[in-house]
Amino acid sequence: MKDLGIKAKRVLLGNNLGKSTKPAPKQYPHQWNWDSAFIALGVSNYDAERAGDEIISLLGGQWNNGMIPHIIYSDNEEYFPDQKRWDIHRTKKAPANVDTSGITQPPMITIAAHKIVEKLGAGFGQEVYQKLLSYHRWLYRERDPNNEGLVSIIHPWESGIDNSPRWIGTLDKIILTTKPKYERKDQKHVAGEERPTNVEYDRFVYLMDLARDFDYDQKQILANSPFVVQDVLFNSILHKANECLREIAVKIGKHKSDIDEIDNWMKTTRLAFKHKLWDSQTNMHCDYDLRNNNKICENSIAIFGPLYAGLVDEGDAQLIAQHLNDVNKYAPSLGSTKYYIPTTSKNSKHFNPKRYWLGPIWVNTNWMVIRGLERYGFTDLADRIRKDTLTLLEKGGFCEYFNPYTGKGHGTKRFSWSAALAIDLLSDSTK
Ligand code: DGY
Repeated sequence: MKDLGIKAKRVLLGNNLGKSTKPAPKQYPHQWNWDSAFIALGVSNYDAERAGDEIISLLGGQWNNGMIPHIIYSDNEEYFPDQKRWDIHRTKKAPANVDTSGITQPPMITIAAHKIVEKLGAGFGQEVYQKLLSYHRWLYRERDPNNEGLVSIIHPWESGIDNSPRWIGTLDKIILTTKPKYERKDQKHVAGEERPTNVEYDRFVYLMDLARDFDYDQKQILANSPFVVQDVLFNSILHKANECLREIAVKIGKHKSDIDEIDNWMKTTRLAFKHKLWDSQTNMHCDYDLRNNNKICENSIAIFGPLYAGLVDEGDAQLIAQHLNDVNKYAPSLGSTKYYIPTTSKNSKHFNPKRYWLGPIWVNTNWMVIRGLERYGFTDLADRIRKDTLTLLEKGGFCEYFNPYTGKGHGTKRFSWSAALAIDLLSDSTK
């Protein structure tokens, strides 16, 4: 296991972009939002300054309305969609000298920044706090205009879990009269059967073009886009991020009005999870599709987000954790899967052990579930998942995702957050 840490650092060094780290050598050649946050979380264990640079670099792409984009383009490395397709400079809200995408990703950045503040002290908190607060304010102002405590995502890419089975029903309702023109580049380095389908990609591109054509005016997008969803995992991460933002605010002596504002977000979210998203038939929270006005109750890795965020009481935490013990859903068993945790329940009709988020094991979601289980005292299960995660990385290398039956690595190799979070998990024994 000692070697694993050394190899992980080598992967991160290989993906170094100067002040930030790309997710992978060829497949993802720019800076990604939640990737950088996971990278910073891992790197902070041995080089907090460098982890801080990662966050500062990400904040360099922040729009002047507070939005932190999901991609910051580093140069003309081949990737679709490129910066021209987003055409962000059509709006004055975009930063003048940086090329970014026009949508966001789960706000892991605040969680990573909080860990770096613990290492580097209040000075780093002073440096980033106002920018992080303005990002959270943007999320609530522009994406939760009715103050439900649930922000909406307007693109599956914003969930970070692009082809989650949760989005299939909503995407299927989008009838394209003309197919958008574009050329996929994501299947150049990774087999097509491990990536989202063309049907999904057409809709991904349609939705990004739509946001662009509304000049990234969130009011227009919320009113007109066929994809407006209150995502359980995104909102769980935001709740955890609020907890972190609050701690930074206290540490750097911020005014009580800031703290009250954050407390109010958290209180409202907690109520919304209980009264709007919880489904007592299935013992999980469901996403909510605001465009079509229906709950989305697909059993996927997202249902464990509320454990990570501390959003439920002990009783509901117990019920949620039970899904992990079920051999038909997530638990390994003889003749079935061998490792924790498939990203889609095995008994879902959409489950596929090779294709992106339809079933393979991802290191970041395993990591979040481990932290959630630890939070509620389910340490045996957390230990088992940590052991499986490290075994997969040892056997398969730092792949993007892993087959839950065989442990075979899929997606790109030398994937940064697999390396960074391996370092974080390895350091657990010394914490
Ligand atoms: C991809 O290219 O698959 C990314 O997830 C989009 O951000």
